[in-house]
Amino acid sequence: MKNIDFKTLDDLEAAGKRILVRCDFNSPIDPVSKCIIDNTRIKIHAESTIKELIEKKARVVIVAHQGRPGDPDFTTMKEHAKILSDLLESPVSYIDDIVGEKALNAITSINKGEVLVLENVRTLPYEMKTGRPEEHAKSELVSKLAPLFDCFVNDAFSASHRAHASIVGFTAVLPSYAGRVMERELKALIKVSTSPEKPCVYVLGGAKADDALAITRHVLEKGIAEYVLTGGLVAQLYLYALGYDLGPVNTRFIEDQKLDQFISEIRDILSRYYEVIRLPKDLAINKDGVRAEISVNELPTRYQIMDIGTKTIEEYRAILSAARSVFMSGPMGVFENNQFAKGTREIFSAAAGESRFTLAGGGHTAAAIEKFGLKDRLSYVSTAGGALTEYLMGRSLPGVEALKEAARRMNK
Ligand code: 3PG
Repeated sequence: MKNIDFKTLDDLEAAGKRILVRCDFNSPIDPVSKCIIDNTRIKIHAESTIKELIEKKARVVIVAHQGRPGDPDFTTMKEHAKILSDLLESPVSYIDDIVGEKALNAITSINKGEVLVLENVRTLPYEMKTGRPEEHAKSELVSKLAPLFDCFVNDAFSASHRAHASIVGFTAVLPSYAGRVMERELKALIKVSTSPEKPCVYVLGGAKADDALAITRHVLEKGIAEYVLTGGLVAQLYLYALGYDLGPVNTRFIEDQKLDQFISEIRDILSRYYEVIRLPKDLAINKDGVRAEISVNELPTRYQIMDIGTKTIEEYRAILSAARSVFMSGPMGVFENNQFAKGTREIFSAAAGESRFTLAGGGHTAAAIEKFGLKDRLSYVSTAGGALTEYLMGRSLPGVEALKEAARRMNK
C-alpha cells in the first residue's frame, strides 16, 4: 500500500514470535449487570488480526482497555477474553495482572498459536498520561514488558488518538506493525479524506455539533468535499444560526444543551461555504404522535422537530446519486422511532451502492445501518469514535504517527 508509510502484518514473519497486540476491546457495558452489551469491537480484532496471528503460529498477548477509571464501564478484561475465546472457538487465557510476576510468567510461558489477554491496561495509574513514545518507553509497562516480546502490533485505530503508554510506548523500542483493523480503517479513511474520488459528499447529522462543524470546516477548506449535507440536530443549529425561529420546544432544547455556543462558528462557516452546505428545506415534526411535514418557511412550530422532510430527502438524494465518495456520520432524525426513520433510511440507502465508496462512522450511525440492513451495501463501517473524528478534522493520531516513526527506524 503506497500511501501508508508504516509496516503491516505483510511485513512480519509471525511464526513462533511473541507478539504484543494492542487491541481496542472497549465495549458498551450494561450499567447494572456490568456485562458487555455489544461485542462488535472484539469481533473485528478476532476475525482479522488475532485469527491471522494464531494461524501463523505466533504467541499472541493482548493489551487493551475498558472504560476509564471511575466510570461505570471501567471493568476487568475477563469477559472480553471469554467472548474472544467463543469467537475464535479456541481457548484464550486471561490474567488479572499486567506488569507483575503473574503476568510476566504467563507471557513467557505462552505457546505457539495461543492467546493471552492481560488485565485492563487503564488499571495502571500512569497509562492515561499523554506523552511521547520515548517518554512512555521509560514507563514500568513498557520497560517490563518490551524485553519479553519480539514485536508490537497496534490494531487499536479507535484508541490511537490517545498518546497513551500502551498505544505509543512500545513503538519506541520494538519493531512495530499495524494490525489488520488499523490498516483497514486507514485505507478506508484515505478514500474519503486524503484522496477521495470526486465528487465527494459528507453527510453530517446527529447531535455532535462541535465534531460536525470541525469536520465541515476542514473538508471544505481543503477542498476534500464538494458538498456537506446536514441533518439531525446539526441541521437545526444551522437553521437557528440563520435566524429561523424553531419554536419554543426546539429552541429550549438547543439552549438547555448549550448548543447555542456554536452559533458564531456556524455563521462563520456559512459566510465562507454557504453555496455547498445543504440545509433542510422542510422538516418532519411530531404532531401529537403523528409525523407531519412543514417547510422551513412555516417555522416556528410548537412541535418537536424529529426528521428532515421529503423535499430535503429528494434534494439530498440527487446530490448523492452523482457522488463517487461519501462519508456519513450522524442520523438525519430520530430514526429509533419508525415514524421519523424516513430521512435517515432514505439518505443512508441513497449513499450506499456499488458505484461509489461510502464510509460510515459513529455509534448511532452504525445502529441505524444495522436497523435498515444496509451494512453489506456500504464500503466500510468504522467502529471508531473520537479517533475517526480527529482524523477527519485533519489532526494526526499519535498511535499512527508512532507506527510511522517506528517504520522509519526499521528501514534505516
Ligand atoms: C473509544 O471508545 O473511542 C476508544 O476506546 C477510546 O476510548 P477513550 O475515549 O476512553 O480514550
